[in-house]
Amino acid sequence: AEQALQVAIDGPASAGKSTVAKLVAKKFSYIYVDTGAMYRAVTYWAMTHQVTLTDETAVTQLMQTLTISFKPGEPEQLVFANGEDITAAIRQPDVTNNVSTIAALAKVRSILTEQQREMAAAGGIVMDGRDIGTTVLPDAEVKIFLVASAAERAKRRYTENVKKGINTPLAQLQAEIELRDHKDSTRKVSPLTQAADAVLVDTTPMSIEEVVETIANIIKKQSSAI
Ligand code: CDP
Ligand code: CDP
Repeated sequence: AEQALQVAIDGPASAGKSTVAKLVAKKFSYIYVDTGAMYRAVTYWAMTHQVTLTDETAVTQLMQTLTISFKPGEPEQLVFANGEDITAAIRQPDVTNNVSTIAALAKVRSILTEQQREMAAAGGIVMDGRDIGTTVLPDAEVKIFLVASAAERAKRRYTENVKKGINTPLAQLQAEIELRDHKDSTRKVSPLTQAADAVLVDTTPMSIEEVVETIANIIKKQSSAI
């Protein structure tokens, strides 16, 4: 019988995690969960409720008034805060540049980690983020660490931004990506790091389709092995 696996995809900013995770999920009829969107939702919620982003107590208290939910959508999955569509709002540059601050708060991480484990409990899930293979789902049957050079990732984000009418210069985007990677990799709680049993996939020279195929093959191999 077909196994309903847990697939964890981690990696630095703009490596293609959400794009690829969503397509892989579709291919296997799995649920896709974008954990970065959850950290972005909390950041957006704190910013719009005038809560100091470094105030762990205030942020976690505010989180009790926030229910994050997802709905399938094209080209992007839709994200809701208490039923309000925040899909576009959480991708705005001010949220992007503040999310690492929120993501460094231990209590915020434990609340979101708990929610993510509940979503993944039944398997049949592709979850992407920074700490899925290391912390959220340490027993995931498939773990992918998706990387690409910073220059390539900045180029991808630039192209994506242009389509949305955002005009941040390429060099600034690369600097922002490198700063966020540094913050994510050096924080004390669940830093971005490759799990010992994760497969490294360097997507720098690869098309989206090639990355999807590579991951799909790893999943098929793994599901026939168990
Ligand atoms: O899409 P992009 O790579 O720009 O980022 P994202 O996946 O939306 O994640 C936004 C931010 O949330 C990251 O830079 C991390 O600070 C944080 N994050 C995290 O700490 N842990 C996760 N599992 C997912 C995201
Ligand atoms: O989730 P993460 O921040 O890792 O990346 P993303 O939001 O999926 O953004 C990656 C961007 O690079 C998207 O605009 C993709 O179309 C593009 N891209 C990719 O994901 N993979 C490739 N191999 C080539 C381009």
